[in-house]
Amino acid sequence: MYIDYTGGGLYADSQLREHLRLLETGVYGNPHSVNPTSAASTELVDRARAYVLEFFKASPDEYVAILTANATGALRLVGEAYPFRSGDRFLLTFDNHNSVNGIREFARARGAETSYVPSVSPDLRVDETLLPRYLTDTAGDHHNLFAYPAQSNFSGVQHPLEWIEQAQSHGWDVLLDAAAYVPTNQLDLNRWHPDFVALSFYKMFGWPTGIGCLLARRDALAKLERPWFSGGTIVAAFVQREYYQSAPGAAHFKDGTVNYLNLPAVEIGLRFLDRIGIDTIHARVGALGVGLLDALDSLRHSDGAPAATVYGPRSWVRRGATIAFNFLHPDGRVVDERFVDRIARRHNISLRTGCFCNPGAGEVAFTISRETLVGGEFGEGMTLDDYIRQIGLPSGGAIRASLGLASNFADLHRFQDFAREFVDLASVPSDLPPRIAC
Ligand SMILES: Cc1ncc(COP(=O)(O)O)c(C=O)c1O
Repeated sequence: MYIDYTGGGLYADSQLREHLRLLETGVYGNPHSVNPTSAASTELVDRARAYVLEFFKASPDEYVAILTANATGALRLVGEAYPFRSGDRFLLTFDNHNSVNGIREFARARGAETSYVPSVSPDLRVDETLLPRYLTDTAGDHHNLFAYPAQSNFSGVQHPLEWIEQAQSHGWDVLLDAAAYVPTNQLDLNRWHPDFVALSFYKMFGWPTGIGCLLARRDALAKLERPWFSGGTIVAAFVQREYYQSAPGAAHFKDGTVNYLNLPAVEIGLRFLDRIGIDTIHARVGALGVGLLDALDSLRHSDGAPAATVYGPRSWVRRGATIAFNFLHPDGRVVDERFVDRIARRHNISLRTGCFCNPGAGEVAFTISRETLVGGEFGEGMTLDDYIRQIGLPSGGAIRASLGLASNFADLHRFQDFAREFVDLASVPSDLPPRIAC
C-alpha cells in the first residue's frame, strides 16, 4: 500500500504508454537549433509550457512558466536572484520546507533580515491576528519577500491563499510553495496572483521525475537579478571582453538544455489529471482522509488510553490529505518511529517517518524551544541518534501518511489493520537500526 503521495505521486499506465508512443514515433533533437528534429522538440516544449499555464489558469500576459529540475530548483531561482539588500526583509512561516528555509542564507549574505511567523499547537496554523503585525513591519522603499506553503508537507494545514493579496497590499512579493498543494487542489492563478509559485510535477502525477516549475509574474520576474549566466540564458557573451547580454524575460532563467524528451510527459500528466478532474481527486482524498483521521483518533489501548496522537488539525477544514502522527504506548510514550517503519514494511506499506524536511512544524509539534536548540548544537562526530537524545526528543520525528489520486477505501482498511498492531504495545525491541540524517 502506498501512502506517501506527499513524497511523490504515482503514475498511470496510460501516461507511460502515451509518452512512449510519442518517443517511438518521432525523432527529437536538442531544441537550441532550427533543424527539423530540433524544431520538433521546440514545438513539444512550447506546447508543454503553454499547457502548464493553461492548467493553472494563468494568463500568459501575466505569468511565465520556467521549467526547473524540481520545486527546489524553482525556489532557488527566486532565492539567489531576489534583490535582497540591507534593510530588506525575508518573512516566512515556521511551517516551511527546508528548500524555502534555505533562502534565508541568500537573504543573510546580502544583509536582509529574516523573520519567522510562528505556528501554534495543536492545529499548527498561524495565529491570524498576529500576521498583520509581521506584514506591516517593513521599512519604506525596500524589497520584501514573503514565503509560505499553500499546504504544509508536515501537517496538511492549508494556509490561506488570501494572505497573498494581504501581503502584496503591504508591499511584499509573495513566493507560494505549492508543491504539496497542487497534487490534490486546484490552484487558480486567475483568482490568486502570487508573484512566484514553485512546484514539482512528479508530486502531481508521478511521471516524469526531474521536472518542476517556477510560475512567475512577469513584473516580479523583471525585479530578479541573476547572479550568473549560462548556456540558454543570454543573447550574447564574449570572452575577450567580459560582457554578456541577458536573454529577455523567462529565457534568462532557463539554464542549459531543457529536459526535452521528458517534458511532453508533463503535458500528458496534466491532461490525465484534467480528465479525472482535480476537484474529484480533492473530494476523494478528503473522504478518505476523514476516515484516516478517525481511525487514528479512535485508536485506543485496552485501558482506554489513546494509542495515537495527530499533529495538526483534527477536523477536515482547510487541510489536505497529509496526516502527521505518532503511535503511543499505553503509558503515553511515543512509539519509536523506526519500529513503526519496521511494522509498515511487514505490511508492505510505504509511508514516511522523520521530520519531512520541515523542521519548523516539527519544533512546534514536539514543543522544542529555541533555548533547547541554541544550547544543543550538532557537535563534531555526533550521530543523529546522539543529537535526538541531547535535545530530549522522544523519537526521531513523526509518521506521515499522505493520500493521492489512486488511494482507495481498501487502503484505509489496510491502514486500520496496520494501526491495530500498536494497540497495547508496551515496548519496542532494542535492535532498531541507527537513524540516518534527514
Ligand atoms: C511543500 C514542499 N516544498 C518543497 C518541496 C521540495 O520538492 P522537491 O524535492 O521536488 O524539490 C517539497 C517536497 O517534499 C514539499 O513538500
